Amino acid sequence: MKIQTPVYYGDYLQLPKILNAQAPESTKYGKTAHDETLFIIIHQAYELWFKQILHELNSVREIMQQPFVPSTDLSVIIARIERVTTIQQLLIDQIQVMETMTSLDFMEFRDFLVPASGFQSIQFKLIEAILGIKAQHRMEVEKQFFNSRLKAEDKKLLEAEEARISIFELLEAWLERMPFSQFEDFDFWGEYSHAVDKMLKQDREIISNNPVLDDRTRTMELKNLDMTQNTFNTLLDSRLYSAWQGEGKVRLSQKAMLSAVFIYLYRDYPALQMPFRILNALVEVDEKFTTWRYRHAIMVQRILGTKIGTGGSSGHEYLRSTTERNRAFIDFFNLATFLIPKSMIPALPQNIKDQLDIVYDSFRP
Ligand code: HEM
Repeated sequence: MKIQTPVYYGDYLQLPKILNAQAPESTKYGKTAHDETLFIIIHQAYELWFKQILHELNSVREIMQQPFVPSTDLSVIIARIERVTTIQQLLIDQIQVMETMTSLDFMEFRDFLVPASGFQSIQFKLIEAILGIKAQHRMEVEKQFFNSRLKAEDKKLLEAEEARISIFELLEAWLERMPFSQFEDFDFWGEYSHAVDKMLKQDREIISNNPVLDDRTRTMELKNLDMTQNTFNTLLDSRLYSAWQGEGKVRLSQKAMLSAVFIYLYRDYPALQMPFRILNALVEVDEKFTTWRYRHAIMVQRILGTKIGTGGSSGHEYLRSTTERNRAFIDFFNLATFLIPKSMIPALPQNIKDQLDIVYDSFRP
C-alpha cells in the first residue's frame, strides 16, 4: 500500500473546527463568564459521546434486524452494547466536573441561555427512541415540550426515528422466535409451576411458624405472598397476561417474557450464555441511564434549587419523573420476580440438555 497524502494530526481530527466551536453567550453581552467555557465544553463532550452511542446502537439494530440472527453475530452485539455501557459510566462520572461550577457561577450566564435546554438535545431523544422509548411512552408534559421547543428539522428527525423499529421491539421478536417456550415431550412450564408452588409453600410455612411475627404482620406477609402467587399465575396464563399488558404493567409479550425467564433460569448452559449476556447488557444500559438521569436531577437541584429550567420545565421535579419513567427495558428488571432458587429449578431431560450444551472436554463421565 502506498500512502497518498501524509496525514496531519490536527487536520485528521478537524481540530480547528472543534476547538473554535466555543462561543460563550456572555461575551456577546460584554462580560465573559469564566465558567461558561466549562459549561459549553462539557455539553459538547456529551454530544460527541451521544454520537458514538448512536453509532453503536444503530449497528446493533442493523444486526438484529436480520430475519435470522446468526449466533456468531451475538458476540458483536454484546461487545457493542458493553462499549455503550462503558461510555455511559464516563457520562455519569463527568457530572462531577460539572459540579465544580457553583450556583453563583452559573447565574453569571444562565439568563443568556433562555430558552435553550438539554431538552433540545436531539441525540439524547434519538437514543431513547432507538432503545424503545417512543412518543406513546412519554409523559404528556414531555410531548408538549417537544412540540413547542424543538426545531422543525429536529422534530422530523425524532419522528422518523420513532417510526423505525426499536431495539426493544427487535429483542422482543428475537425472544419470541426462540424455541424455548414449548418442548414436544416435556411440559417445562408445568414443571416450573410445580417448583413455584413448592417454593411458595415453603415461604408460607416459614411465615406461619415465625414466632417473632405478631398476628397483624403475619397476615400482611401472607397477603403479600398471595400477591406473589397471582403474579406467577399471570405469567403462565395468556388471558391474565394480556390484561396486565392492557393495564400497562408490562410491555413485553408473554411469549418473549417466557423465553427470557427460561434464559435467566438456565443461563449456565453454553447455548444460553450469550442471550443472557445480551439481556443483561441492555438492562445495564437502562440502569446506567437511570443513574445518569438521577445524578443530573440532583445536580440540577443543587445548582437551581426549585427554580424552573431554562427550557421552562419544573426543573428538578420534571427530571425526577423522567428518571422513574423513561426506561426501555423495565420488564427485564421485573423479570427477577419470576426467578426461583437454583436448587428448585426443574431438571431438564437429557435431550434438551444436549441441545443447550457444548462439550469442551473429551473426557465425559
Ligand atoms: C449547570 C448544569 C445543568 C443544569 C442546571 C441543567 C438543567 C436542566 C433542566 C432544568 C432540565 C429540564 C428541562 C428544562 O426545563 O430546561 C434539563 C434537561 C436535560 N439536560 Fe440538563 N442541566 C445541566 C447540565 C447538563 C449537561 C452537562 C447535560 C449533558 C448533555 C445535560 C443534558 C440534559 C438533557 C438530555 C435533558 C433532557 C432530559 C429529559 O428530557 O429527560 N444537562 N437540564
